[in-house]
Amino acid sequence: MKIFSSITETKTYLEESSKKGKSIGFVPTMGALHRGHISLLQQANLENDVVVCSIFVNPIQFNKKEDLEKYPRTFEDDVLKLREVQCDVLFAPSVDEMYPEPVLERFDFGHLDKVMEGRQRPGHFNGVAVVVRKLFEIISPHKAYFGLKDYQQLKIIQTMVEKLGMDIDIVPCATLREKDGLAMSSRNVRLSKYERSIAPVIFRVLNGLKDKIGTMSPLEAQEWGTVQINKFDEMSVEYLSIAGADDLLQVNTWDDKKSVVACAAVNLGKVRLIDNIILF
Ligand code: PAJ
Repeated sequence: MKIFSSITETKTYLEESSKKGKSIGFVPTMGALHRGHISLLQQANLENDVVVCSIFVNPIQFNKKEDLEKYPRTFEDDVLKLREVQCDVLFAPSVDEMYPEPVLERFDFGHLDKVMEGRQRPGHFNGVAVVVRKLFEIISPHKAYFGLKDYQQLKIIQTMVEKLGMDIDIVPCATLREKDGLAMSSRNVRLSKYERSIAPVIFRVLNGLKDKIGTMSPLEAQEWGTVQINKFDEMSVEYLSIAGADDLLQVNTWDDKKSVVACAAVNLGKVRLIDNIILF
């Protein structure tokens, strides 16, 4: 596996690969790799000649300094995992390499970044879009892989690529879960033993919403789900939203949209967890 920290070297190397007719699959990450990330890389490996992973803890998508400082950094371990999964290129730049100048770029995602994560974390999705655009320009991938785990992020990236007319196939990948249903996340290791034991409630409740279709209104179902989760003293729902799967607009009746997603953010002790499921 080639490891680059320089933008120019990465570009030159990958331009050569493209010239030789090789397809490039790209998985952007912030490191602290777990099996969820690895599943994206495996899919990229099946569908491309060259697989590129980036590890960059992007400061401009954190709206709390404390979160950025606390973000796990396990570079050596990540490199071992990437070698094992036969990743071809790792791009791991410094902050100065990515942002030599202050970032002024502003995207307008309309409603998409005003709800759910966007509402709780102002500026977060602009930071995500800025870094992903920059990474796309460096790597020039044919395909890029994003987890459905971060559903709103996936929608933002799809919208950005469409707006900018970038010729990149965005591939949504299934959420990898622990056996008990908890979505894999680098934050799960910060849960205490007890918190970890109740964490699967989030997925169970999201799944339970499927049974409410037709018997409750979407708003009542949201309320039901919130109450189920908040029954646990250690858990507090930040939002639980039932929304159109494409536009993330709140649905008021079940026949409002062709496809509907339920997304939740829950504080469990000191850890903030997000999850979602497509209801239909
Ligand atoms: P990060 O949180 O490291 O996630 C990298 C990719 O892994 C994202 O596409 C995310 O959705 C996916 N992922 C995380 N947990 C997953 C799981 N349990 N199953 C499947 N996929 C999962 O998301 C980011 O980094 C950053 O915002 C980034 C896009 C790299 C921009 O900085």
